[in-house]
Amino acid sequence: MALSLFDKRFLFFGGKGGVGKTTMAAATAIQAADLGFRTLLVSTDPAHSVSDSLDQKIDGEIHTDVHNVNNLWAIELNTENAMRTYSEMVSQQDPSGTITEFFGGDDPTSLSPPGADETVAFIQLLDFIQNPEYDIVVFDTAPTGHTLKLLQLPEMTQSWLYRLIKMRRRLGGMMAGFKAVFGGSSGTSEEEAFDKLEELRDQVEIARVHLANPKETEFVAVLIPNIMAIWETERLIRALYEVSFPISQLYINQVQPENPSCSYCKSRYAGQQENLKKIKELYEEFSLVEIPMFEYEIRGTLRLRELSHMLYKDHSI
Ligand SMILES: Nc1ncnc2c1ncn2[C@@H]1O[C@H](COP(=O)(O)OP(=O)(O)OP(=O)(O)O)[C@@H](O)[C@H]1O
Ligand SMILES: [Mg+2]
Repeated sequence: MALSLFDKRFLFFGGKGGVGKTTMAAATAIQAADLGFRTLLVSTDPAHSVSDSLDQKIDGEIHTDVHNVNNLWAIELNTENAMRTYSEMVSQQDPSGTITEFFGGDDPTSLSPPGADETVAFIQLLDFIQNPEYDIVVFDTAPTGHTLKLLQLPEMTQSWLYRLIKMRRRLGGMMAGFKAVFGGSSGTSEEEAFDKLEELRDQVEIARVHLANPKETEFVAVLIPNIMAIWETERLIRALYEVSFPISQLYINQVQPENPSCSYCKSRYAGQQENLKKIKELYEEFSLVEIPMFEYEIRGTLRLRELSHMLYKDHSI
């Protein structure tokens, strides 16, 4: 059984593609809501599947009230529009690429601005981190690579913004363009755009503090007991340590039940048991939760709630 997650404010579910991140995030959000917490389930995966999991159309802008669950809302972050504005603005303001070159071009160790999609997603994330409307925000994240970029962003954005602010005079008119991306309307003055950047820098700093605080934030790594998922989990955990992101729980999903009467099941079971042993050795200081492979797809609030009871039974708070 899982340790209590419900004394935290921000719960992230991440891991390799297809291991059950969305399912675990949705079941956990339902449990949090059933315990009486005002809960928001946020998908940061550009290939959203919260709608499919909840079996209900979830909006990209508005927090959708989830059917059959009191206290639960959901949103699938729509970064496309914001990204388009960002790209247009960069190309309009810097047609010759001088500024980008000044910041070091494509060299990853340079001062070049962080990637557009992650930046926009992170700026949207800031809103949730500072929103007092919800007691708990559960994040269903994209497969590992994308999510790591997102979580490494505070540090990158921070240093980028510091440099950008320092270079203010040299950047001149570009500031007004940034304002349009970071929440202002077009045609604003350079001064206002500059203020907005400073405000953003401070918000990013606040977000970093919240996300690194184990009293507030927990990242649950979801995996299945196979070697490739174990390797990817290892990379994920190392990278999370590097950005000081709290992680202490692993949900091991799709564990095969023992079935000696079928030879295919027997060998799958034996292989998984071997890998489970490895996982236990590697992560003895973690809280490990095993979730069996169900006979059916876990979709819709009814099935998700059944899973949540299994995951969090005996849990009050
Ligand atoms: N324990 C389980 N037993 C049976 N089916 C499961 C189990 N866990 C997840 N599934 C099913 O596996 C599929 C993939 O799960 P899910 O979408 O949660 O994975 P994901 O990690 O979010 O995938 P993606 O990387 O594509 O976002 C879904 O159809 C889900 O219902
Ligand atoms: Mg998913």
